[in-house]
Amino acid sequence: MQNTNHLQVGKLSKTYRRGVKALNGLSFEAHNGIFGLLGPNGAGKSTLMRTIAGLQEPDEGQVHFNGVDILAEPQFIRNQLGYLPQDFGVYPGMSTWQLMEHLAILKGIHQHGERNDQIEQLLQHTNLWEYRKKAVSTFSGGMRQRFGVAQALLGNPQLVIVDEPTAGLDPEERNRFLDLLSELGEEKIVILSTHIVEDVRDLCQQVAIIHKGSLVEQGEPDILIERIKGKVWRKIMEKQLDFELGPDQYLLSSRLFAGKRRVHVLADRWPGEAFESVEPSLEDVYFSTFQEVPIHS
Ligand SMILES: Nc1ncnc2c1ncn2[C@@H]1O[C@H](COP(=O)(O)OP(=O)(O)OP(=O)(O)O)[C@@H](O)[C@H]1O
Ligand SMILES: [Mg+2]
Repeated sequence: MQNTNHLQVGKLSKTYRRGVKALNGLSFEAHNGIFGLLGPNGAGKSTLMRTIAGLQEPDEGQVHFNGVDILAEPQFIRNQLGYLPQDFGVYPGMSTWQLMEHLAILKGIHQHGERNDQIEQLLQHTNLWEYRKKAVSTFSGGMRQRFGVAQALLGNPQLVIVDEPTAGLDPEERNRFLDLLSELGEEKIVILSTHIVEDVRDLCQQVAIIHKGSLVEQGEPDILIERIKGKVWRKIMEKQLDFELGPDQYLLSSRLFAGKRRVHVLADRWPGEAFESVEPSLEDVYFSTFQEVPIHS
């Protein structure tokens, strides 16, 4: 029978010094699969991930993994956790193999044969085996992130947390990296944070949108999209915005494309001349959750 894991995050709050409220009573639950955390810069994603990883304490709230209170028993989560931080440093002179060995020992994999087997298997799996004698500090961004996954998987963790792993990767490396994550979700909980909305659509079974430390939306990507079906309208215009929004109409996005401006508007009814109905995307969902008041331009 396949092992299923369960993560419960309950009403986490954290205020940093100088009054920055990074988490504001945030709760969610996750099971095996890939759970996407979407949110703009400063939303609280990294704070949330560090708290789940037991690396920092919240002011209030609980985290349970497979029924165990991990704030009370941080050692429990350490044995179950693979973590790829948003920025990680590497020792300049160390080869890939040496660094994996060092990190494996820190994770408590002391048996020599078992350690070697795991390192070989993970480097093969992340396509880094042929580079095992090269220093990680010389790797390209994509190779470095794949190394980040390889080290996070030492000790076969049941909960894997990856914090904005695709930032700065070229499209090919990004796809390769997302394929790698996708396989992991079959038997573990993988929590992935990103502000690249497209990363989430096909990959994640569940997505949570975080804004100002609160969870503003959660669900399956397709279901969230379905909810705004028939309500997203597009207009192409010259560079200047040339319309006014009525009450209950929201500007979702406004972008320049080949010298023209393309806007998406959320509205229950046709917003007016030259607007056409479009299939909503997860990006439309994302921006719709940030709307608090209609924008009258
Ligand atoms: N150690 C800290 N001390 C004080 N304030 C902090 C600290 N870490 C984060 N913050 C603040 O808390 C808020 C949330 O930060 P956090 O790094 O969790 O957001 P994020 O969603 O990961 O952002 P990004 O997408 O830029 O990585 C921000 O306003 C940030 O400036
Ligand atoms: Mg962050």
